[in-house]
Amino acid sequence: MVAVKKRKRGGKGNSKTVYCWYIFAGGILIFLGNYFIWESEQPPAGHAILKLDESGALQERKRPPDFAQERMERRQREDKKRKNPQPEDAPEDGRISDDEDKEHANDNNNDNTDTGEQQSKISYVSPNGDVLVKPAGTGPTKLGYVMDFVHERGNPKFRTASTLNKIETSGEKHSQMVATALSETNVQPCEYLDEDAKTTMLKARLLQRKQCREPNGALMVYNSASFPRTWCGVTIAPKSAARVEKPCTEPVRLLEKDFPPVNGDGMTPIVLHSQSDINALGQVSPLKDCSIPCHVENGMTGVARYIKGTDWVIYHSYDDPNAKREVQTELSKFKNDEYFSSAYFKSDIPLSRIDLDKHNLRNALPPVDFDAVKDSGVYIVNEQCGATNSRRSRWKDVLDNQYHVDSPGKCGHNKELEPGESLETLEGRLTIMKKYKFVLGYEISTHKDWVTELAYEAMLSGAVPIVLGATNMKSHLPRYGAIFVSDFNSFDKLAAHVNMVAKDKALWNSYHAWRKDESVLAAFERKYQFTKKSPECRMCSWAYAKMNGLGWDHQLQQVQETHIGRKLCVDSDSDFIAKPFREVWSVGKSSLGAGTNGPCQSVANSDNEHVKQDGWSIVRSVIQHDSVIDIIIHEIDMGGTSDEATLTLDYKNLVNNTEAAFFANSHTVLDTERGMLASSATIQDHKTKVTVLANWQTTVWSPKQGVIKLIVQGKTSDRMHEDEQRRIRVISEDIGEQLHDKMTEYFPSSFSKKMIQDFIDPLEMFYLDS
Ligand SMILES: *[C@@H]1O[C@H](CO)[C@@H](O)[C@H](O)[C@H]1NC(C)=O
Repeated sequence: MVAVKKRKRGGKGNSKTVYCWYIFAGGILIFLGNYFIWESEQPPAGHAILKLDESGALQERKRPPDFAQERMERRQREDKKRKNPQPEDAPEDGRISDDEDKEHANDNNNDNTDTGEQQSKISYVSPNGDVLVKPAGTGPTKLGYVMDFVHERGNPKFRTASTLNKIETSGEKHSQMVATALSETNVQPCEYLDEDAKTTMLKARLLQRKQCREPNGALMVYNSASFPRTWCGVTIAPKSAARVEKPCTEPVRLLEKDFPPVNGDGMTPIVLHSQSDINALGQVSPLKDCSIPCHVENGMTGVARYIKGTDWVIYHSYDDPNAKREVQTELSKFKNDEYFSSAYFKSDIPLSRIDLDKHNLRNALPPVDFDAVKDSGVYIVNEQCGATNSRRSRWKDVLDNQYHVDSPGKCGHNKELEPGESLETLEGRLTIMKKYKFVLGYEISTHKDWVTELAYEAMLSGAVPIVLGATNMKSHLPRYGAIFVSDFNSFDKLAAHVNMVAKDKALWNSYHAWRKDESVLAAFERKYQFTKKSPECRMCSWAYAKMNGLGWDHQLQQVQETHIGRKLCVDSDSDFIAKPFREVWSVGKSSLGAGTNGPCQSVANSDNEHVKQDGWSIVRSVIQHDSVIDIIIHEIDMGGTSDEATLTLDYKNLVNNTEAAFFANSHTVLDTERGMLASSATIQDHKTKVTVLANWQTTVWSPKQGVIKLIVQGKTSDRMHEDEQRRIRVISEDIGEQLHDKMTEYFPSSFSKKMIQDFIDPLEMFYLDS
């Protein structure tokens, strides 16, 4: 982990206020920089619970916790130190060196286009004091993976405007619908808005009538979500009502299994189809040779692929993304549940024309005999000779002029096939290639990761390949195994180099060293391992992982467990949660919780536990379901003290959120009915993201790395109502180290969205008022 410090170079701010300032910015850039930092720091640091409107009238700003205050002060001191701004075009020392990382930096910029923050730079200080300056944003650098929380937090995508009006839409309105749907009269909502809330809106809270918590008859339920939910054995379809004859103490469930397996028979089948209308779904057949149950519609056509039971669409095509708009990967589209399957390796389900069985570099032919073969190159291209890209034929022609290139294929044809020669098969082509010192593997497209059999066959041939194509070609081929046209900035320089290699046997031989280099061969095999599974099979696996919030190995394209476990394990001595986080309750200076290293016991649930000490007591229970953990507080008795009661979730060493950075109220990005009644915070590092939600207005923050704290009950005015249950939900999930999933770093994943929605807009319950 690396510390992140932010330096602002006149970027555009997020709020209107900052924007106005920017118009007058001219000479006051430094001042603006400071101002912006304050502005973007403020909401999380103050962990305000309500931000009701842009006028700020109802904003509640609480005292920032000490760590945030300290951090702000430190930043200000640093900014002062940096009073002499660096020249605009100062070389970015040690800026990302690797191809892939450059790519990342570019993509960062793409993301920033949305936010208008293109010009901001951040400097990182690694633990050993190295400093790196790079564009704002999270991602890998030569100093390690850097989490730029300041940047992510400042993203306007976090500032969804929610209004308090929404709270009143539930209950009354839906009870009428439920009454009609179930032909009942006198249907009354179980939830009611606290009377106090009507006068002081800041304390708005929904309470639940006792007869619904401990029902002795049937309850009516309404599912306002877009996904089905199951309660006490009754499945309630989206936007519909049902009657539950025997209310139970079970949690409402969203998934078929609480902990979906990552392999084996217990996996819920995935259905893949190409019609957006599920009613038009044709016949489906199970896919053979797929590690997960995957059913595919027969004869799928077109670019779109759908997953039954979701709103997701995957744009899928083998065509060059430069030429086919539909598959130009736009990573931020995942927010609308649009995904990609293209030749771009960072698309969700990448495609490749390389077939590991046919093109494995491990089976490459040995080097040809330098002294015996033709002192010339060969170019074998049969398609798209000049149509979309005459660039490759220009590079070929110039080399032909200054060295010599035979072209037996249709493109630039200058040589007839000899008897017995064939261009139709891989063997045939290799037999021709083996007769030359050089083989030109020139691709039609420069799109990232566009590497086809044209380049790979050249590698396999035993001649020295000269390759042209994808901008990141070097990450696909052995680095010193080919002459990369992109290394030469003129036709003449390339031709001169080829002529030199053609005369120098030792130099020519140096291009073959990779053939015996196990690490190169293994890296290649790993990179293309995924091609062994069909794209349909990988789509199903990807969808399965995504639906269930499981981990996903993007490179190998397979489902895996999440980095940190999600199953409950309770401390054998104290019965508090020991894993995946350590549970600690505190009032003032006294606290009680799980030990740090004791043995723990796996359990499904933890029943009502009386947390009792020094005169205070809290009654809580814990339920795990749908891979999340819910903590329910039934009673709080503060025993006369005016201290705050807090709950600490300790993920020490499991989540290293740099400088204890967190996103406050991360749930507000979702369009929920009662968003502003809840509180939440998210912490994350490059592997894991943990979101803690509370169903009332309180404070959730991270006082130090790996720790989330929540005020269970504030001072005096915050007493729990007798009809209240304070609920806390803990959602943990992997976040992609790869850019393909980068956006989940500041926007919830599909799984997380569902679990948040379920928590904030739970299944609504109604009773019959007799
Ligand atoms: C977090 O940091 C600690 C201490 O530096 C280290 O031992 C641990 O492996 C890190 N955890 C993760 C998930 O990176």
